[in-house]
Amino acid sequence: MGHFATGVTVITTQDRDGNPNGLTANAFMSLSLNPPLVLISVDKGAQCYACFNLQNGFTVNFLSEAQEDVSRRFATKGIDKFAGLQWHAGENGAAILDEALGYVECKITQCHDGGDHTIVVGEIINASASGGRPLLFFRGKYQRLTES
Ligand SMILES: Cc1cc2nc3c(=O)[nH]c(=O)nc-3n(C[C@H](O)[C@H](O)[C@H](O)COP(=O)(O)O)c2cc1C
Repeated sequence: MGHFATGVTVITTQDRDGNPNGLTANAFMSLSLNPPLVLISVDKGAQCYACFNLQNGFTVNFLSEAQEDVSRRFATKGIDKFAGLQWHAGENGAAILDEALGYVECKITQCHDGGDHTIVVGEIINASASGGRPLLFFRGKYQRLTES
C-alpha cells in the first residue's frame, strides 16, 4: 500500500463536550457526486474514534506542503493537537485549519465495519479551496510536487 501515493488530510471532529479532536488520515476518497459523499476510514483503536458517530460531523482538511508538522502532530497520540494552531469552527462544529489548502465539511450518514477500521461515509454540507501545493505521502515518507 505504501507504493500508492496519496495526499494528506487532517480530519477534525469534536467530542460530546464540544472539544475539538482529530487525526491525520490518507484513507479518504470521493464516493458519490449526487448526493455528494466522501468516505474515510478510522482506526477503531484511535483515541478520537468515539467521536465518529451518526450524531456528529467531521471536516477533512487538505494539507499543504508547508504543513508536514501539522500532519505529524495529528498523528501523535496523547498531545494537545490544537495548541497554538490557527483554526475556527465550521458549520458542523468541527475545526477548519486556517492554513489548509481546502476542506470539506460533512455530516456522518453511514458507518460500516471494516476490520480494525470503521468506514465512515459523510455527506458534504460545505466546501472551500484556496491556492497552494499539496503535501503528499509515498512509501512512508512525506513528499512534495516537483515541476516537470
Ligand atoms: C500519512 C498518515 C496517514 C494516516 N492515515 C490514517 C487513516 O486513514 N486512518 C486512521 O485511522 N489513521 C491514520 N493514520 C494514523 C493516525 O493519524 C494516528 O494513529 C493518530 O494518532 C490517531 O488518532 P488518535 O491520536 O486520536 O489516536 C495516518 C497517519 C499518517 C502519518
